[in-house]
Amino acid sequence: MTGQIFLETNRLILRAWEDRDRDPFHDLCSDPIVMRYFPEPLSREKSDLLVSRCIEKQKRDGFSLAPVETKDTGEFLGFVGLSRPSYDAPLPFDPCVEIGWRLNQSAWGKGYASEAAKAWLRFGFETVGLEEIVAFTIPANEPSRKVMTRIGMTRDDDGDFLHPSLPADHPVAPHVLYRLKRSTWTTQCPT
Ligand SMILES: CC(C)(COP(=O)(O)OP(=O)(O)OC[C@H]1O[C@@H](n2cnc3c(N)ncnc32)[C@H](O)[C@@H]1OP(=O)(O)O)[C@@H](O)C(=O)NCCC(=O)NCCS
Repeated sequence: MTGQIFLETNRLILRAWEDRDRDPFHDLCSDPIVMRYFPEPLSREKSDLLVSRCIEKQKRDGFSLAPVETKDTGEFLGFVGLSRPSYDAPLPFDPCVEIGWRLNQSAWGKGYASEAAKAWLRFGFETVGLEEIVAFTIPANEPSRKVMTRIGMTRDDDGDFLHPSLPADHPVAPHVLYRLKRSTWTTQCPT
């Protein structure tokens, strides 16, 4: 670990992007199983572009989707973080801050995504002062929806939408929306 650390949890370090992340990040984003709920796996050019956008958002907003590594081995697991979406067309619930995650298959089933996401929720509500954080995915993405529920988010039954970056008839265009308000998070006092 050499770069800036944003947050730490029991098992994880949540830190700034570094050039050395670009190779393992492309490995992650080109895995067809990891990307099965997205339009397609990403080329090297597109995964590099995503890293650059995250770095820009970090500078602009003070947060972004950020690398996750284990404390014990320093292995790059993927990203978890907060982001102001910047798609070609607006989302129906803009302006918003979303929370998102994408981890290597080898890191699944260990609670890492939820552990990192809870730390980012605390950062978003307590440090940034956000009133609400949202998350969205396609209905079939049960693992991601379980993370949303596990960290205290609730589905907005009236919030289903078609992703603005995709044609309406694209198989992964329909999305479900989850929300968490700061007042609810404070009441729940998650650890
Ligand atoms: C979404 C994704 C991050 C979820 O990963 P995950 O490992 O299922 O979620 P968590 O890290 O929160 O781990 C929870 C699981 O670990 C288990 N677990 C094992 N040890 C644990 C521990 N010490 N602490 C907590 N949970 C633990 C939990 O029981 C749970 O298992 P279950 O889902 O079978 O009940 C992962 O599937 C992924 O990266 N998918 C591809 C990218 C993607 O779709 N991203 C979302 C786009 S919206």
